[in-house]
Amino acid sequence: MILLTGATGRVGSAAAKALARASIPFRALVRDPEKVTFDPGAAEIVQGDLNDPAIVDQALQGVSRALIVMGNHPDQSKLERRFASLAADVGVSHLVKVSSMEAAPDATATLPKNHYDTEQHIASLGLDWTFLRPNYYMQNMLMYADSIARDNRFALPLGTAKTAMIDARDVGEVAAVVLTGEGHAGQAYRLTGPTMMDFHEVAARIGAVLERPVAYVAQSPGAFREVLGQFIKSAWQLDAVCELFAEIAAGSLEEQTSTTADLLGRPAMDLETFTKQFAGAFAPAN
Ligand SMILES: NC(=O)c1ccc[n+]([C@@H]2O[C@H](COP(=O)([O-])OP(=O)(O)OC[C@H]3O[C@@H](n4cnc5c(N)ncnc54)[C@H](OP(=O)(O)O)[C@@H]3O)[C@@H](O)[C@H]2O)c1
Repeated sequence: MILLTGATGRVGSAAAKALARASIPFRALVRDPEKVTFDPGAAEIVQGDLNDPAIVDQALQGVSRALIVMGNHPDQSKLERRFASLAADVGVSHLVKVSSMEAAPDATATLPKNHYDTEQHIASLGLDWTFLRPNYYMQNMLMYADSIARDNRFALPLGTAKTAMIDARDVGEVAAVVLTGEGHAGQAYRLTGPTMMDFHEVAARIGAVLERPVAYVAQSPGAFREVLGQFIKSAWQLDAVCELFAEIAAGSLEEQTSTTADLLGRPAMDLETFTKQFAGAFAPAN
């Protein structure tokens, strides 16, 4: 049996849909079954929180392979490590973890450092593991959809730094490939989209699809923090995101690989197709 966590999120739901399409049975640990967007008939749903070891232990019974992914949270590292330890205890043979491209021994920013430390913990447990280390998610652009819809512009504190942004759904599909295939143990896959570009080019490409000019405004870190603070109420998360964006501005995501396409056997999702699929979100209100 395969167990998915984060199955109501961007990566986990794509993994679930890929497994469901392939008629591969799986179990999903979800906090709120109402949020499931995959065919619920395709899976065993266990309702619960990663914070509850008894539920996690129950969800892990009879599982041979598992995906651990959750949103960034002060307890993320603790909960992911505990999940991994419980998985090893019940005999899970292969654990797949969604990490980040900046996860490295010398990582200092909180989020990539936590990912790297969790990877190290998993690697110490004696089970097979695969780490998925994605670049920037295209879905992050949806946070600016209202701004693009209203003002045809978006602001970020990233200067002319480049990313090779990836559709989070591709990360989920890679997870499904790894969970169901062989030869992935001990791999840390660096996952990117098909194009490395700065945000002026991101804006131009989105604008070309929307058939109206879209502009990227390079914002100061202070202005970014002020705007973000209106949406993110957790001081921990605000600090963590600002710290991460400072690293991205310094070029931490300027890397492109063919790994996503190699593993999926098709090109990675490009920004143009992504924008077409989410065109409604970028459309001006009538
Ligand atoms: N954004 C980026 O550009 C980027 C790039 C590289 C790596 N990453 C990494 O990607 C990961 C996030 O993946 P994502 O975008 O798929 O996340 P997401 O869309 O925010 O979904 C998070 C999932 O985790 C679940 N979850 C959160 N806390 C939980 C808990 N205590 N117990 C059980 N489930 C819990 C959520 O459930 P609910 O639906 O109930 O909330 C949801 O299913 C993070 O580790 C992040 O560092 C992000």
